[in-house]
Amino acid sequence: MLRINSDRLWKRIGELAQIGAIPDSLGCSRLALTDEDKEGRDLVITWMQDLGMTIAIDGIGNVVGTWFGVETNQMLPPVMTGSHIDTVRTGGRFDGNLGVLAGLEVIETLSENGVSPVHPIAVGFFTGEEGARFAPDMLGSLVYVGGMGLEAALDIVGIDGARLGSELERIGYNGSAPCPGLTPKAFFELHIEQGPILQAEDISIGAVDSVQGISWTEITVEGQSNHAGTTPMHMRRDAGFVAGEITSFVRRTALEMGGNHVGTIGKIDLHPNLVNVVASKAVMTVDFRNTDEEILKETERMLEEFCDELSESENVSITNKVLARFEPVKFDEELINQVIDVSKSLGLSVKRMTSGAGHDAQMLARVCPTAMVFVPSSKGLSHNPDEYTSQEEIERGANVLLHMLLNVAEVHDG
Ligand code: GLV
Ligand code: MN
Ligand code: MN
Repeated sequence: MLRINSDRLWKRIGELAQIGAIPDSLGCSRLALTDEDKEGRDLVITWMQDLGMTIAIDGIGNVVGTWFGVETNQMLPPVMTGSHIDTVRTGGRFDGNLGVLAGLEVIETLSENGVSPVHPIAVGFFTGEEGARFAPDMLGSLVYVGGMGLEAALDIVGIDGARLGSELERIGYNGSAPCPGLTPKAFFELHIEQGPILQAEDISIGAVDSVQGISWTEITVEGQSNHAGTTPMHMRRDAGFVAGEITSFVRRTALEMGGNHVGTIGKIDLHPNLVNVVASKAVMTVDFRNTDEEILKETERMLEEFCDELSESENVSITNKVLARFEPVKFDEELINQVIDVSKSLGLSVKRMTSGAGHDAQMLARVCPTAMVFVPSSKGLSHNPDEYTSQEEIERGANVLLHMLLNVAEVHDG
């Protein structure tokens, strides 16, 4: 059976990670559409060109490289793989990057072994998967499948006040390929688990059957700044206190809901943010996730109610803005079973599991049969510079990807 070259893949992961490298760590900082993101994009495109891939860049900056073997029928829809290469500001080198570079490694393996699939194979990287600079997350893949219009996406304003469309132009990635893009025959994404389950259970491969729902809200609390020494407690309109109350509410609710419900306050900005001034304003984000859409809706309702009560009792104004809202997604049963079968045929332990993180695959699942392959994350760490998956674990996942692509692109390596 064919196998990928894990040294070559590992080397590319290391090279890409030099761009935006976080000193004294393995981590990367390449927020979407920054200079670092551009440099990363340029490098990956160079590799695609070296592999003889045909490159298309669309209006939201998604990059798709398509590879045709000698006997490939160019009229057939491609089988697509890929992920993203943007990172959170304090990210690791594997999140997203692995899926893209493993796709290139599959192409190189096929090419050097003279294997020619019937369907073309495409490797894509989608713009702004993280949502850490421009919300929502999975933005590029959402636009790719027609889930958001291009103009609306280009007008999104980031956490630094920059307009997405202007940043895209600035780095030269406002391409001309159409959005929505070509519908693939199927989509696969290899990704690190980003959680602790596979490592804890000593299992090599996750056959991902679903992605939990995501609800992101930005809450703005407006009170009044005043002197910290002279303002009696009962006279305060304290946005800092209200932000604290919302923070504990989110955690309490997540624990009360039980099951797999999670709630996070990842960002709070206080104004004027000074030691001796009662805060007049707080802008904060709430991230709720659940596999059950009804529970997700219920927690959103509870949050709204809690904000209404606080607004009244603390004499502040509270406004909410939805940053991202995606329902839970189920992947294609036939492909999930194929991931399990392929893993077993490679002698690898495998487990069906859900994804706690959002992924581009959940958007592609709207238009074509889709599945994902997870490999373990050391200590369950991700969105952290210490995120780590060993070369051996990556090799296993990339070999599963190789054989999934071979199956669906209709080649058998005998
Ligand atoms: C995006 O990758 C997320 O899950 O936050
Ligand atoms: Mn990712
Ligand atoms: Mn991520």
